[in-house]
Amino acid sequence: MKIKRFYIITMGCQMNVYDSGQMERLLASEGYVPCGEAEEADLIIINTCAIREKPEHKVHSHLGRLVRIKKKRPDVVIAVGGCVAQHEGQHLVKRWPWLDIVFGPFAVRRLPELVAEALRRDRCVVDIDTNAEAEPGEIAPAAFQRGSPTGFVTIMQGCDNYCTYCIVPYVRGREVSRRPERIVSEVEHLVASGVKEVTLLGQNVNSYGMTNGHESTFPELLTAVNRVKGLKRLRFTTSHPKDLSEGLIACFDGLDTLAPHIHLPVQSGSTRILKRMNRGYSCEGYLKKIDSLRRVRSDIAITSDIIVGFPGEDDKAFRETLDLLQAVEFDNLFSFKYSDRKGVPASRFSHKVEENEKEDRLARLQELQRAITLRKHQALVGTCQKVLVEGRSKRGRDQLTGHTPCNKTVNFSGAASEVGGIVPVMITAAFSHSLRGEMPRRCERLPGPQGGVLHAA
Ligand code: 5AD
Ligand code: SF4
Repeated sequence: MKIKRFYIITMGCQMNVYDSGQMERLLASEGYVPCGEAEEADLIIINTCAIREKPEHKVHSHLGRLVRIKKKRPDVVIAVGGCVAQHEGQHLVKRWPWLDIVFGPFAVRRLPELVAEALRRDRCVVDIDTNAEAEPGEIAPAAFQRGSPTGFVTIMQGCDNYCTYCIVPYVRGREVSRRPERIVSEVEHLVASGVKEVTLLGQNVNSYGMTNGHESTFPELLTAVNRVKGLKRLRFTTSHPKDLSEGLIACFDGLDTLAPHIHLPVQSGSTRILKRMNRGYSCEGYLKKIDSLRRVRSDIAITSDIIVGFPGEDDKAFRETLDLLQAVEFDNLFSFKYSDRKGVPASRFSHKVEENEKEDRLARLQELQRAITLRKHQALVGTCQKVLVEGRSKRGRDQLTGHTPCNKTVNFSGAASEVGGIVPVMITAAFSHSLRGEMPRRCERLPGPQGGVLHAA
């Protein structure tokens, strides 16, 4: 029998990376094997992201390239999944009539049936049904994640926040939390298969359990996951500032596997703009939460997201955002130009900002942040950090790459046998995106899995 091969192009966030993993497992159970090139595959899937204009445009350029493969091999099955599929549905089929499957995030579980149907029919199979599943993501324990020591577990789907710029609640649906015991068992599975670090995923993990009453709050879930034997590092993303409770902040002190890093998107430094965004907090409220976090864990790394050029953002509002950056000194920042998403409230707001103004603000913001990040990285030179070795670095044959507890990327030379271990690395150089280091011969080890800074002997 001919081996059936699949190739998945994953775009966007870590939720999509997780969903692609689910697709891989489902396809593997149907006898499919992954392959390294789209040209060799019998089934090609693009798992798309609709959050901003740029990734959405990329979907169409991928499809533009796949036309050639489809012309050469009409039997190849080409599928578009994810949020663009959910949002565009039949419009995608109209633009790309040779597509075989269009399926949204709710249909991931049905992928094998959709493929079978596509092979039977010569019309595109469209599945963008939004019937929320009571227990999302219950496919099979994520036992393999490409042999990597880091793994991801989705703890909830959807979002109920309706920030005025955001498409997520419309394409990923209402918030649904998974049962805590299922999450803990998936983490146990990952750890048993060699994973050392687990990241819990959700659009707003801080409101875990609030909407479908599993009687377990997010701090309680973290406490349960922290008890999994063999787990070395625990992370979570994304947090919404309005739901960041004192109980959750206290976890950074009490839970020994919880890594000292939080991604806490602020979006703007102007309280007026935050109100227009429907974020539910003020700039002052955000700064208070940052203070509480640093009081509990002085070395905590804080990263954030910012949107520049939101409708109504004037010079004063933008300056307030720059002031916020100076006040907080984020470890890293993901910054975006506002883009209209079809159907969301902000697309109908007045006082749109000109494209060249958005570009100018983005450049100024990124320049300021680059200097802050570099300064923070330079302060680490001469310290010894515990690095989880994740694999070979792209930089060279004997180069390894990994992350510190604060989630800084470190590249250093070492043997491939170190992959999967947590090793002490002396930081020798700082750049704006990463650190370079060396494994010292002897290092004074500090107790605890995180330990923070070590002193080389
Ligand atoms: N335009 C620009 N950025 C956006 N984001 C979400 N929606 C938009 C939009 N319409 C950004 C936010 C969010 C991140 C994942 O993407 O900063 O936190
Ligand atoms: Fe979008 Fe806001 Fe939900 Fe984040 S919290 S996914 S920005 S609606």
